Amino acid sequence: MKFSRRVIDTPPYLFHLIDEKRKAAQEKGVDVISLSIGDPDQPTPDFVLSIMEEEIRDPRNHVYPSYKGEPDFCEAVAAWFDKRFGVQLDPRTEIMAVIGAKDAVSHLPLVFLDPGDCALVTDPGYPVYEAAVRFAGGHPVRIPLLEENRFLPDLESIDPQTADKAHIMFVNYPNNPTAAVADRSFFEKLVAFALKHDLVILADNAYSEVYFAQEDRPISIMKIPGAKETALEIHSFSKTFNMTGWRIGFITGSKELINAVLTFKSNIDSGVFMAVQRTAARALSHPEAERFNQQRTDLFRNRRDRIAKVLSGLGFKFQLPRASYYFWVRIPPSYASSVKFCADLLEHQGLVVTPGVGYGPSGESFFRISMTAPDQRIDEGMERLTTFMKDRQ
Ligand SMILES: Cc1ncc(COP(=O)(O)O)c(C=O)c1O
Repeated sequence: MKFSRRVIDTPPYLFHLIDEKRKAAQEKGVDVISLSIGDPDQPTPDFVLSIMEEEIRDPRNHVYPSYKGEPDFCEAVAAWFDKRFGVQLDPRTEIMAVIGAKDAVSHLPLVFLDPGDCALVTDPGYPVYEAAVRFAGGHPVRIPLLEENRFLPDLESIDPQTADKAHIMFVNYPNNPTAAVADRSFFEKLVAFALKHDLVILADNAYSEVYFAQEDRPISIMKIPGAKETALEIHSFSKTFNMTGWRIGFITGSKELINAVLTFKSNIDSGVFMAVQRTAARALSHPEAERFNQQRTDLFRNRRDRIAKVLSGLGFKFQLPRASYYFWVRIPPSYASSVKFCADLLEHQGLVVTPGVGYGPSGESFFRISMTAPDQRIDEGMERLTTFMKDRQ
């Protein structure tokens, strides 16, 4: 039996490994608390489930969907995009449904890269960016996200020759894992950079609706003049409506860019289950959507503030998350490795958090806490972290 280099050279997926460790501890009888993966603990809201109950019974939704996305889905997205971001998109040509943001992220490099081509990926970053570039035979060049730059890439420090060689650049704001946000002026510089170096920005906006203050409300890169021609923006329903298991998202960009993706993806999959598309479409404009969004924001803000209080009390160094589900926290100075810190925390306290190095070498001195566990488990997790730190004083 022979496996491809693609498989042999790819390290196991970070969350798969963490899950294995969690299971092994549970099998030994440990009551494990996981503040690791960003999967909302809350269910998909009732109003979405009620729509699905109707849509799933409609036999017209049971056949193969269109490759690009159903017209009513694309129209609903266009209407939402206009209302939410003030950006007008042509639903016929500038929007495409995808099977979650991960589907887009993992396939887009195959649309733009030939073997040996260069791609800029942020470090730390969602691990799939780099893996997908490698699967396409591309050469990922890591762009560090440093705290002193508010975890934004320093575009001026990127070697112009490397930028000229690059065909794509992944960016992600609100950011996983750092919880940083980007403002309009950053996106303006980014679009200018992309136009200058003739590269396509793949802007992952999966967390666009998870933010805590009005002034941090994420914008769309599509708002910047010229962006449509040089960027694809990736959206997801996973975090917006607690629909991680439903697998639906969409991408936006110029007709030319969307067509290129369609040429590729129509040979890969057969679109998103129509009942899911129609449910998602109706959810976007549903009267309950805003209230739900507000409740979710309040829930996560409250969790954020409780966790921040404990971390500050223990002397941890971190920026207060402005968006997303995550805390990006420096490991204690007594540790040289994020993996060791997280392994010790699991071994001694049954608490799972994610080692920062899993998101790239620049994450080595950090760990990530996800707020996606029930309140009581989060509080217990913070108590365990407190005991762990006190035991080491
Ligand atoms: C930055 C980022 N992009 C994409 C995804 C995947 O989202 P989806 O569930 O839509 O595939 C995640 C999931 O955690 C993420 O953190």
